[in-house]
Amino acid sequence: MILKINGRSYDVDIQPDMPVLWVLRDVLGLTGTKFGCGIAQCGACTIHVDGRAVRSCVLPAGGVGDAAITTIEAIGATPEGAKVQKAWLDREVVQCGYCQSGQIMSATALLVQTPKPTDPDIDAAMAGNICRCGTYVRIRAAIHEAAGA
Ligand code: FES
Ligand code: FES
Repeated sequence: MILKINGRSYDVDIQPDMPVLWVLRDVLGLTGTKFGCGIAQCGACTIHVDGRAVRSCVLPAGGVGDAAITTIEAIGATPEGAKVQKAWLDREVVQCGYCQSGQIMSATALLVQTPKPTDPDIDAAMAGNICRCGTYVRIRAAIHEAAGA
């Protein structure tokens, strides 16, 4: 099966029902995308599929087809991703860091769709990304900073 990931084509020998998260981490060694819950409840595994934020732990690789996957390893090469990553550093958002690749992927997808999000827009877009360290206030500030950059 061919998967398009971060601008490259990968020929992977896998069962079509293998979740994309497993392909990324265990087959391709792209370990920036994290495993949290495995049941689409935490957001740690968020990637983009054709620019939309998707939970890769419940996305069968066989369902991706020709769509373009982007992971945290390449999001900084996009204009919005670069702004988000800079704002994350400026605001020192990260605490333990485990949830943060998923947070950045969701925040970037939000800014692509809604360049000047309101607080309710941010809360709605980020609601599925859990942070056990409670960095939510800094996440919101960083998204506003990235939107103004
Ligand atoms: S690991 Fe996918 S949502 Fe938690
Ligand atoms: S920074 Fe620790 S879980 Fe979010």
